[in-house]
Amino acid sequence: MNQPRMGGIATLNAPVYVKQQKLINWVAEIAALTKPERIYWCDGSQAEYDRLCSEMVAAGTMKKLNQEKRPNSYLACSDPSDVARVEDRTFICSAKKEDAGPTNNWTDPAEMRNTLHGLFDGCMQGRTMYVVPFSMGPLGSPIAHIGVELSDSPYVAVNMRIMTRMGKAVYDVLGSDGEFVPCVHSVGAPLAAGQKDVAWPCNPTKYIVHYPETREIWSYGSGYGGNALLGKKCFALRIASTMGRDQGWLAEHMLILGVESPAGKKHYVAAAFPSACGKTNFAMLIPPAGFEGWKVTTIGDDIAWIKPGADGRLYAINPEAGYFGVAPGTNDKTNHNCMASMRENTIFTNVALTDDGDVWWEGMSKEAPAHLIDWQGKDWTPASAKETGAKAAHPNARFTVAATQNPVIDAAWDDPAGVPISAFIFGGRRSTTVPLVTEARNWVEGVYMAATMGSETTAAAAGQQGIVRRDPFAMLPFIGYNMSDYFQHWLTLGEKLAAQGKAELPKIFCVNWFRTDADGKFVWPGFGDNMRVLKWMLERLDGASAASVGGVEHLFGVTPRYADLSWEGLDFSEQQFNTITAIDKAAWQAETALHTELFEKLKYHLPQQLADVKQTLEKRLAE
Ligand code: OXD
Ligand code: MN
Repeated sequence: MNQPRMGGIATLNAPVYVKQQKLINWVAEIAALTKPERIYWCDGSQAEYDRLCSEMVAAGTMKKLNQEKRPNSYLACSDPSDVARVEDRTFICSAKKEDAGPTNNWTDPAEMRNTLHGLFDGCMQGRTMYVVPFSMGPLGSPIAHIGVELSDSPYVAVNMRIMTRMGKAVYDVLGSDGEFVPCVHSVGAPLAAGQKDVAWPCNPTKYIVHYPETREIWSYGSGYGGNALLGKKCFALRIASTMGRDQGWLAEHMLILGVESPAGKKHYVAAAFPSACGKTNFAMLIPPAGFEGWKVTTIGDDIAWIKPGADGRLYAINPEAGYFGVAPGTNDKTNHNCMASMRENTIFTNVALTDDGDVWWEGMSKEAPAHLIDWQGKDWTPASAKETGAKAAHPNARFTVAATQNPVIDAAWDDPAGVPISAFIFGGRRSTTVPLVTEARNWVEGVYMAATMGSETTAAAAGQQGIVRRDPFAMLPFIGYNMSDYFQHWLTLGEKLAAQGKAELPKIFCVNWFRTDADGKFVWPGFGDNMRVLKWMLERLDGASAASVGGVEHLFGVTPRYADLSWEGLDFSEQQFNTITAIDKAAWQAETALHTELFEKLKYHLPQQLADVKQTLEKRLAE
């Protein structure tokens, strides 16, 4: 293989199993720009993972946790300024501004290339550049795609090994001319000769940049997962959504779960919730007492790639191989399977350290330990927390863990063919207005529900928390193109599948687990009890019509009556049920005014069908 000369910067040393000259040339080109001290080609082995983790322990980036309590696990604590996705620094640099649309930050690609060229010039000095080959989706699956990330962060290399199918085998699939998405990442903290490194290098200047036409990703200044593990949000959502638009498939911010009834009937459903709204919990749900014989299994907890199959159904894969989930709030009651998944071989980020070398976060146990080292390395006690309000773990603290450690992983989770989707569920975090569950009467009405979804913001993104913003399809920060075109893509896909007439379209439901009472307390118990709602959906799928027992039709769709849900094992009154399903006309008039505001913003290319649904809704509300 032809090894390009490196101008005396670092030896390229591409392994013999890397057969693609285009890839080797690109690595050489990026190295010539970023000027790392070394280039290291990751093979994805356990030995390599262990070695990189040990090096990070020696460098102070990670701590090894107590081997007895949490085998082969580590804690990394980030710079306090680098804890979440930075949506205001995330750019979609399409050739035309209107192709990024009004919901994305846009800069002319030539101008952005110029800016980035300046920032990346020499940005890896004194560091190792890791070459990280990965497959999003099972290796060789017709639904999967390959990427290669060049990063100067060993934290990124080890997390990518958990989150993706990373390593040598990717080069076999890539061969000498396979396609890959080039991803360049730097923490933006070059080291001068002899300069001592910090535990979490990063840069106050941050750029998370996507070029949709050339399918490239460039990320600068952050080591935080959502900004730095480029297979996840950048590739599997922003770039993949543009691939899906061009090729007729969907890349969605959705969990995928399997649910099997005691009679052995199995469905797969995909559900979209905004960041930190419980996708991981729903994907690993344990059915409550009274639901003996029901089984819920996980395909994925965050992202779904969905393609039409020859039989007219939609088939989904989880492009990821691990979970990068929010730790605070997770405990044996809220998500026992998740706690079991992270018993070992886990990387924790920004949680607190216990005195016996284990981890803790708010909500892990009722009583906090008497003393902790908090995520910023400071002493923490329940008393000091009361006084200062300091959290032991950052609210967006994370765990990274392999999907295979999930005790309820679905047998088909790695199936290259994917699993057939029977229903889509969309849900926001809304303390008022939106009922517990509504079934859309048809595909277009379902797309409208998803398109107009609102949700209260969480700690997963930097910025103010708890304010309602429109988060269509839970994809506001993740659609790599114009949002109106994205809505049209969903409508067109539905029309195409319906025209084929080979299979029923998946049903679409909208849920809200988060309505509160007059005291601001959640009314719905959520977690395992969401199974009650899921069971109703499955009954609807298996044939109940709006007119039959099973639901009541109202302004926006079909909602169950109290008697339509199974209440065994739960003390939940009809009055409580009414509190979370009631439709307040005045609140909905205010809500549709916000839909109007959204549609005004999106008017370029906004599908007429959605404007029509809104008009019908407004008419019904006025009656
Ligand atoms: C995530 C997010 O990390 O949505 O999954 O922010
Ligand atoms: Mn997410």
